[in-house]
Amino acid sequence: MKLAEQFPVIDRHVWLNHAAISPWPAAVSDALTDFVADHTRRGPLGYGRWLEIEARLRHRACQLLAADSSDDIALVANTSTGLNRIARGLDWISGDSVVFPANDFPSNRLPWMALEDIGVKAHAVELNQHDPERALIAAIGPSTRVLSVSSVQYDTGMRLDLERLGAACRRHGVLFCIDAIQHLGALPLDVEQAGADFVISGSHKWLMAPEGLAIFWSRPEAREQLRVVDSGWRMVPEPFDFGHEDYLGSESAVRFEPGTLNTAGIIGLDAAIGLLLDHDPQDSAEQLLNLTDRLTEGLMKIPGVGLTSPIERERRAGIVSFRIAGISAEEVTTALTMRDIHAATRGQRVRLSPHFYTPIAQIEQTLECIAELAASRT
Ligand SMILES: Cc1ncc(COP(=O)(O)O)c(C=O)c1O
Repeated sequence: MKLAEQFPVIDRHVWLNHAAISPWPAAVSDALTDFVADHTRRGPLGYGRWLEIEARLRHRACQLLAADSSDDIALVANTSTGLNRIARGLDWISGDSVVFPANDFPSNRLPWMALEDIGVKAHAVELNQHDPERALIAAIGPSTRVLSVSSVQYDTGMRLDLERLGAACRRHGVLFCIDAIQHLGALPLDVEQAGADFVISGSHKWLMAPEGLAIFWSRPEAREQLRVVDSGWRMVPEPFDFGHEDYLGSESAVRFEPGTLNTAGIIGLDAAIGLLLDHDPQDSAEQLLNLTDRLTEGLMKIPGVGLTSPIERERRAGIVSFRIAGISAEEVTTALTMRDIHAATRGQRVRLSPHFYTPIAQIEQTLECIAELAASRT
């Protein structure tokens, strides 16, 4: 199948909102259609096959993260759940602290802030556009246990230098936690290179799969530091031996999976990652960065438009954001929607998020519309 045929959405809409929810590729829709038909006709007689797909998904998730072992992959309901497992699982002592970006998405702020009732200090750091890592590293002190960041900020689209942050965490003996939902599927991520201890990514954005599932990778030594918060039948080495009494669960990451998993989500995500791996992820990343380069360069030339995302390619992933003087972001997004160009409003910004398969003609069409809108107000 040709790449364009994998993405029927491009024949109908200009979808520049992958940072919210992605349309499904044909591979995902085909896998789910087969699952629905089979489940309807045969009920769970295909259960053995579902387990094989689940194992393949863990393996594919490892490939995507350049991780060693699928024992380190847990499948949880969403990114927020993974972050909460860490926040609630660590053995905190009053006076400990955690560092995170002040304007990060709530899922990477609130679970840490909620620890304030047990005496943990939540240290929210303002990110400077030019050297955001410096401020985060400077905030690490003797009481810091965790540095937690979204590797790509959901509003500005700013991409953080994970290697630099990971190295600083190692130096200071601090756990490094990455919310990769705005990163994974858009650009490669190597857990070893990043020096990560935990990486979590929901499936419905750049991974292009159904909602309600997330990949939660944990380094074994870091995982051991988490108390088991939930217990249940499925998180043990022999889950079908229903007589067991092991409430602490397996040493592997399945200890974060107490009960029945989201099979439809697993089938969709397995197909989506299979598709992503079929195209060299490095090439797909280049394609996406070329599109965000073009958007950046085009927006900067439009009078009245102010770019609110980074100009430098290495500071960007799939998000470009901007404002138009004299028009609210909401008005701009609405006007674009009326032209069937789907973007998002985030605060005072308009956020555009193509994916690697977005045709360049749709990027040009979007720039033309924005230029018309800006001109209409001058
Ligand atoms: C950076 C970031 N983290 C987390 C989330 C939410 O993730 P989930 O719904 O999987 O918990 C979002 C969603 O927009 C996000 O942008």
